[in-house]
Amino acid sequence: MEKMALKYSSYKSEKAEIVDIKKLTENEKLFRVVLKNKGRLDHEPGQFVMVSLYGIGEIPISVCSSPMISDYFELCVRAVGKVTRSMHKLKKGDEVGIRGPYGRGFPVRILEGNDLLVIAGGLGLAPLRSLITYVLDNRRDFGKVHLLFGCKEPKDMLFSDELEQWNKRADIHYSCTVDRASPDWAGNVGVITTLIPGVDIEPSRTFAAVVGPPVMYNFVIKELIVKGVPERNILLSFERNMKCGNGKCGRCQIQNLYCCQDGPVFNYEQIKNLSEAI
Ligand SMILES: Cc1cc2nc3c(=O)[nH]c(=O)nc-3n(C[C@H](O)[C@H](O)[C@H](O)COP(=O)(O)OP(=O)(O)OC[C@H]3O[C@@H](n4cnc5c(N)ncnc54)[C@H](O)[C@@H]3O)c2cc1C
Ligand code: FES
Repeated sequence: MEKMALKYSSYKSEKAEIVDIKKLTENEKLFRVVLKNKGRLDHEPGQFVMVSLYGIGEIPISVCSSPMISDYFELCVRAVGKVTRSMHKLKKGDEVGIRGPYGRGFPVRILEGNDLLVIAGGLGLAPLRSLITYVLDNRRDFGKVHLLFGCKEPKDMLFSDELEQWNKRADIHYSCTVDRASPDWAGNVGVITTLIPGVDIEPSRTFAAVVGPPVMYNFVIKELIVKGVPERNILLSFERNMKCGNGKCGRCQIQNLYCCQDGPVFNYEQIKNLSEAI
């Protein structure tokens, strides 16, 4: 039987159960979530949900699992403050509220038939994991796939098992770097931009999907432009403080754009003249 999808214009939280929790690093945990009404989240890669912890608060978190999975979805959460730290104390079987999915994610229909250059810095791998797994689930619909991943230190590496599996695949070109090596690290050392010049792409048919810490964006965009990737093919996901998640409160405004509704994924052509964007 077809399951009902959540209505994303709704402000009502749906009850959801944490069915599994995996510690990924010292600061990040992966939560597997099931809607109690057995509804399907029906998200696109790059979209986010508003997660509420009753009596504590509500926060935006990107969905990090493939939209092809309908029985559950996953959220990768870094503990930084009140709500995220409380979320890290949750146990299997605990309940949270979920609104969404919200926002514009990566335009997968437009990406189909093209090559992809996925550039993930640190926690940016979380929303991009949803895109990567979607592309792998529908591999024949996409051209070449390059994945560049960078993090501060090897111990900060998210989804390391999956990165290892992707590294072994012949249909993904994977490179990784760390800012600071540990004694057992034999790979690249340096910021993520150092990987871009060496990537063999045909720029006119390549879309770049970029998510990472704010400091990364200007440098990555410069390298992509040098490489010849068209501005409208550079897709960037932004984070802003959010309240409603739904284009009503204005908390997430970037001049005339609402990050929650017009984004969080924008193409560079859309935002390059907005001084507050990057
Ligand atoms: C579209 C979107 C997707 C996101 N996806 C993820 C995700 O997949 N995983 C994840 O761990 N986090 C994600 N975040 C960030 C997450 O929402 C914040 O870390 C969270 O709101 C912090 O709440 P808190 O109560 O724990 O911390 P607070 O006590 O509210 O704040 C702790 C610190 O984080 C800063 N902060 C709070 N909210 C944000 C924000 N939205 N953007 C930037 N800085 C903020 C505060 O200024 C403060 O310095 C996402 C944010 C957005 C907007
Ligand atoms: S969070 Fe309210 S308008 Fe974007």
